[in-house]
Amino acid sequence: MLFETSERIELTDEEFRLLASFIYEHAGLYFDEPSRFLLESRLQNRLKEHHFESFLKYYHYLLYHQDRIFELNALVDIVTTNETYFYREKNQLDAFAEEILPELAQRNGKKKRLRIWSAGCSTGEEPYTLAILCSESGLFDGTWEVDIIGTDISQRVLQTARKAVFSQSSFRATEEYPLNKYFNRTEEGKFALDESIRKMVHFGHLNLMDHKMMGLIRECDIIMCRNVIIYFDKNAKAKVINSFFRKLAPGGYLLLGHSESLMNLTTVFKLKHLTKVMVYQKPGEDIV
Ligand SMILES: C[S@@+](CC[C@H](N)C(=O)[O-])C[C@H]1O[C@@H](n2cnc3c(N)ncnc32)[C@H](O)[C@@H]1O
Repeated sequence: MLFETSERIELTDEEFRLLASFIYEHAGLYFDEPSRFLLESRLQNRLKEHHFESFLKYYHYLLYHQDRIFELNALVDIVTTNETYFYREKNQLDAFAEEILPELAQRNGKKKRLRIWSAGCSTGEEPYTLAILCSESGLFDGTWEVDIIGTDISQRVLQTARKAVFSQSSFRATEEYPLNKYFNRTEEGKFALDESIRKMVHFGHLNLMDHKMMGLIRECDIIMCRNVIIYFDKNAKAKVINSFFRKLAPGGYLLLGHSESLMNLTTVFKLKHLTKVMVYQKPGEDIV
C-alpha cells in the first residue's frame, strides 16, 4: 500500500463543502469555515480505519456503501459534542422544581399524567436529574404516570445513559445530599444510579431533524432541549423549534439552555418570567 497511515490526510475545499453539507442535511449540525480544522482532525481516524487516502472516498462510502448506516452512526458519535453533567444550570432547575412542577401537578391532577422530554440528552445526566427532582418534589405519588424520556442522535451516549453508571466529572454541580441518597459507589470508584430513579427514564435514538421519527414522540408537558440547537444554523433551529411547538400540550413548557433564545426564530411561544429565569410556554385556553 502506497498510503502511509500515520500521515495526516488533508481535507480539500471541495471535500469540506461536501462533508459539511452532508452532516448538516443529516443532523442539522453546522460546520462553518472556522470549524473546518476540527472536522478534519475528528475524522482522521475514520479514514484510517477504512484505509481511505482521501475524504472524497470517505464521503462516497457514506453515500453509497451497503454499511453506510453503521458509518453514519460512527460519524455522528464523532461530530457531536456530548458535554453534560448532573444539576446543570441550577436556577433553571430550581424553577422546574419549585414553579413548573407544582403548576403541572395541579393542572394535570385529574388525568394524573406528566410527560417530560429531554431532547439531546447525551449520557443521561439531564433526564436523570429531572427524575430526581420529580421524585424529591413529593408531588407525584404511585397513582401518577410520570414518563420521562431522553433522546439523542448518538448511539454511543445512549449506551452510557442506559447503564446509568457515572464518573466523578458528572457531579461537578451536584450537592452531597442527592449524591448520597441516589447513587451507590462502585468498586471502580464510579457512581451507579439507584434503580428507583433509573426506571423513571426511558431512552430512545432520535435525530431531531428526522421529521418521521419526531412523529413518534407523544404530547409532552415539558420539553428540555439545552445546549443542542446551539450547534444548528437558523433554518435547522427553526425546524426543530416548530416540531417542539407541535409536541407540547397547551400550556406546556420549553426549556432551553441559559444562553439560548427564540429571538428571530419564532413568536409562537409566550415568554414567561419565573422567579429566577425566563421560560417559553405554549399558549393555551386555560393559561394565565
Ligand atoms: C452538549 S450535549 C447537551 C446535553 C444536555 N442537554 C445538557 O445540556 O447537559 C448536546 C447533545 O445533543 C445531541 N445532538 C446533536 N444534534 C442532534 C440531533 N440532530 N438530534 C438529536 N440530538 C442531537 C448530541 O449528540 C449531544 O449529545
